Amino acid sequence: MGIWSRKSVAALTEEAFGTTGHRFKRSLGVWSLTAFGVGSTVGAGIFSMTGDVAAHQAGPAVTLSFLAASIACFFAGLCYAEFAAMVPIAGSAYSYSYATLGEGVAWIIGWSLILEWLFAASVVAISWSGYVSAALKDLGMALPAALSSSPLTLDAAGHIISSGTLVDLPAMLVVLGCTAICIYGLKTSSLINNVIVVAKVLALLAIIWVGLTHVNVSYWHPFVPVNQGAFGQFGWSGVASGAGTLFFAYIGFDGVSTLAEETRNPQRTVPLALFFSLLICTFLYVGVSLSITGLADYRTLGVADPLYQALSASALPLGWLKVVVGLVAILGLVSVVLASIIGQVRIFYAMSRDGLLPASIGAINPKTNTPVLGTLITGVVAAITAGLLPLGLLGELISIGTLLAFAMVCTGILILRKIAPNQHRPFRTPFVPAVPLLGILTCAILMYSLPTDTWIRLAVWLGLGFVVYFSYGRKHSKLKDS
Ligand code: ALA
Repeated sequence: MGIWSRKSVAALTEEAFGTTGHRFKRSLGVWSLTAFGVGSTVGAGIFSMTGDVAAHQAGPAVTLSFLAASIACFFAGLCYAEFAAMVPIAGSAYSYSYATLGEGVAWIIGWSLILEWLFAASVVAISWSGYVSAALKDLGMALPAALSSSPLTLDAAGHIISSGTLVDLPAMLVVLGCTAICIYGLKTSSLINNVIVVAKVLALLAIIWVGLTHVNVSYWHPFVPVNQGAFGQFGWSGVASGAGTLFFAYIGFDGVSTLAEETRNPQRTVPLALFFSLLICTFLYVGVSLSITGLADYRTLGVADPLYQALSASALPLGWLKVVVGLVAILGLVSVVLASIIGQVRIFYAMSRDGLLPASIGAINPKTNTPVLGTLITGVVAAITAGLLPLGLLGELISIGTLLAFAMVCTGILILRKIAPNQHRPFRTPFVPAVPLLGILTCAILMYSLPTDTWIRLAVWLGLGFVVYFSYGRKHSKLKDS
């Protein structure tokens, strides 16, 4: 069968619930898992990208862009929930596609998920470095530019050019610090994450409350600014392209499914946590974007710290809130870096268990109960990427890779309903085939809205993946003789 060989759902269930080998401990409940979902989702998207989309693409209708991007996530989330409840397994979309679409497609998905998780850690670290550098500058302790920003950047045509600096050291250090925490064990990282998530949600709720009680409604007129002649520059096309960009803000909620093997009662817990995470994030994004575009003219929000900027623009005595938002952004971005590393390590774990990557990458250390080598590789590669590559290049690449994985999960639901109709499904995606088909369609539209260069980079990444697969994975696959 070669690249088309499929794992049976029964084999996946044995991996999820069996007793062989050294396994993760089941320590997470609904709220810890939801906190992980929110922690890994609310990050650079809302804290940095919102302002840019408001200022250059959608105006106050950035709120509609957030809603539109959340629709694709809801369809995909409904499909994730059926799989995650049926086979609650660390590999998430990778493992689901192994059972439905075969090993070759599963490899493509696993390889795309590396784009999502490993490089998301880098992007958020770069954004964190921006916030920290700005805060230190405000305090009169500016870092040398040569050591605090990427040596590469993109020119107006999207080509990579030198920026004249050396390395983004803060971005590298935050990734390496988070890697150390992840190696120490999920219990600790989950506790740190819970504290940070509560602070992050409270700060965003405060912005929503202050903003919506003091909004200047004239800033919301016109809500959808008139298009300026080119696709994506305001008007409805601006709302659509803004949705493509802001899809990045939702990346991470699906990480809930990668912790299925560390969750108590995963069949109930994982679908619930998926939905709670997505609902909480959508509420916060819509509320915050409405609030900041009501506090300040959207044209002034195209800065690295738009939330801070909106609070500064209002005449209210909000000094305390500005300090809180600055601090929470810095802490909150750390929790996204943590969650991204955790998610990536679980994908490595699942792929090495199947023989597609060396077993040592996924081997769980009995002392720390974490895959130490997999975590180290993730941390070192993410740190190098964060130190050297520009944010713009990575952000869209991550989005396109994740959209591809989401579309495959939706396709998998359609296939599994055909090939295993009687399999016990603790959660069933409603309105099949409509929901998976709409999921595929919305992901395809968002992928279409991304630039051609991003498609080319995706093709290069997948090409590299095939080289690794045919030179290692195919030869060592546990299914190679089937
Ligand atoms: N959704 C995550 C963020 O916005 C990746 O930072």
